Amino acid sequence: MWPTRLAKLVAVAAGALGLLLIQQQSQAQETPPLPQQQWSFDGIFGTYDKAAMQRGFQVYKQICSACHAVKHLYFRDLAALGYTEDQVKAIAATDQCTDGPNDQGQMYQRPCRPSDPIPGPFPNDKAAAVANGGVAPPDQSLIVKARDGGPDYVYALLNGFTPAPKGFQVVSGKYYNEYFPAHNISMPPPLSDGAVAFADGTKATVPQMAHDVVTFLAWASEPNLDARHRIGVRVFLFLIVGVGIFYAAKRKIWAAVH
Ligand code: HEC
Repeated sequence: MWPTRLAKLVAVAAGALGLLLIQQQSQAQETPPLPQQQWSFDGIFGTYDKAAMQRGFQVYKQICSACHAVKHLYFRDLAALGYTEDQVKAIAATDQCTDGPNDQGQMYQRPCRPSDPIPGPFPNDKAAAVANGGVAPPDQSLIVKARDGGPDYVYALLNGFTPAPKGFQVVSGKYYNEYFPAHNISMPPPLSDGAVAFADGTKATVPQMAHDVVTFLAWASEPNLDARHRIGVRVFLFLIVGVGIFYAAKRKIWAAVH
């Protein structure tokens, strides 16, 4: 009785393991594993690199914002990138925001202010889809959190526009991307060397721009990370000191007892 049951159990377990392996293998053929990048915000002491975020915001503004919104961000949030109040005002004023209604009951456009949400490129998702071959470019304010692999995935995707392998059918109007699930993506390759000119003299190569824009987008999807890490480290120090004090107190209280 017992050995047959055990045999059955072993067979079922082996079968399950086999299925798992097959599934993993077919997935591995689908998209290569994501190359791991070094991020300034990795680990418990990680913080966002402000210079990288400013460059990344420039890439977003000059390239990605033609198609993608960052609807959860307000201009005033950009102070976290190290901009002064005046710089934030100046950045906001370069965009037009809808306000109103005025005395005639009309909505009107005016330069944006720090208290305005950053406006997106399209009035609604339908218009966004129509302008992009039927697929609306997703909002970018949470994209790094919303995808498996997070920053490594978005970075790989931006660098993943390679020629399609022989025999692969690229759907008309779509582009081959090594890291996009099923490889047919509706986004044309957004980056090319020298597409922007960085004020700090950093060379605008595709990997550099991808790294910077991902740093900016990672901050956008988790702006409190720096504060969380700071609090975490403080709590840790507090606990270490606390343990020391309690240990000293225990020694003193029990010193007389033998
Ligand atoms: C010409 C328009 C256009 C530009 C410019 C553009 N994108 Fe896209 N993007 C799209 C479209 C359309 C999709 C939807 C693709 C799909 O689902 O097939 C998309 C999807 C994405 C995705 C999600 C991929 C996924 O896994 O679903 C990311 C991340 C992304 N874009 C990042 C960027 C970044 C970063 C930039 C700027 C460097 C940028 N895009 C510039 C049109 C654009």
